[in-house]
Amino acid sequence: MTAQIPQVTLDDGVQMPILGFGVYQIPPEQTEQAVTDALAAGYRHVDTAAAYGNEEAVGRAIAASGIPREELFVTTKLWVSDAGEDAARRAFEKSLLRLGLDRLDLYLIHQPFGDYYGSWRAMERLRREGLVRAIGVSNFHPDRLVDLIDHNEVTPAVNQIETHPFFQRADYQALMRQRGVQIESWGPFAEGRNDLFTDPTLSEIGAAHGRSVAQVVLRWLIQRGVVVIPKSVRPERMRENLDVFDFELTDDEMGRIAAMDTGASLFFDHRDPAVVARLGTHRLD
Ligand SMILES: NC(=O)c1ccc[n+]([C@@H]2O[C@H](COP(=O)([O-])OP(=O)(O)OC[C@H]3O[C@@H](n4cnc5c(N)ncnc54)[C@H](OP(=O)(O)O)[C@@H]3O)[C@@H](O)[C@H]2O)c1
Repeated sequence: MTAQIPQVTLDDGVQMPILGFGVYQIPPEQTEQAVTDALAAGYRHVDTAAAYGNEEAVGRAIAASGIPREELFVTTKLWVSDAGEDAARRAFEKSLLRLGLDRLDLYLIHQPFGDYYGSWRAMERLRREGLVRAIGVSNFHPDRLVDLIDHNEVTPAVNQIETHPFFQRADYQALMRQRGVQIESWGPFAEGRNDLFTDPTLSEIGAAHGRSVAQVVLRWLIQRGVVVIPKSVRPERMRENLDVFDFELTDDEMGRIAAMDTGASLFFDHRDPAVVARLGTHRLD
């Protein structure tokens, strides 16, 4: 199964499966089962975060699976209240302990707030020490990403940002590509907002291929070279979301989906002072 999931090669040479499993909003008590089901379905890439409160459950599922560590790609994220050089180091060690791992594949700065330059220095060091294979960011807008790249040694390997048919980020993807940063989508289905799963255009394209809307969306992102991490707690949907490597959307279909872009977030604008204040002051524990 794993052999069927293509990998992208990050700028630093690390290989990352283009499709993984996201666990945001899965309650800790359901997460072990969900990740167990996802690994059984064939996922080998799991995306969690300290802020999701379910790293321990992800770790238990990984340990119980018996899958060799080198076959897995595990991402977690540093929360804002742990920003800064020393605090980030401590937070990383706690995440690793909760996950029951001795190294991480990808560590991301979750939000572009607080002392993320200090965090980045800590992450550069973790990478040098071999405790994490690749480091990156999430929710960074172009200005902050370019500034971080231009004033540090290591370029973020990945920027995980909201990306779906209603907010496509094509121009930003082009800039990231120039700068050696891999785009990773969060919320590939926009969490079902804007009636995504019954959207007429996506449904029509799905019907032409005998595929679901979810499969069309994932295929569209993958054909654009975007890493995807769909979330589901249902094993049949986990399998459906994985089954996107044996059909191809035509240029015309890609163009029809491109026309759905509104250019705006359906969730939050990381440049809105109210969002900066709300997310930036949210503390874990
Ligand atoms: N870095 C960040 O700030 C950030 C923010 C948000 C998310 N993320 C990451 O991105 C991952 C994915 O995003 P997300 O969880 O927000 O949302 P999403 O993957 O866009 O959507 C998940 C929703 O779609 C449903 N669903 C999944 N597969 C389906 C299918 N085949 N047919 C119909 N419905 C389906 C799920 O329901 P069921 O579970 O009931 O199937 C759930 O309600 C997260 O889990 C997380 O790892 C990161």
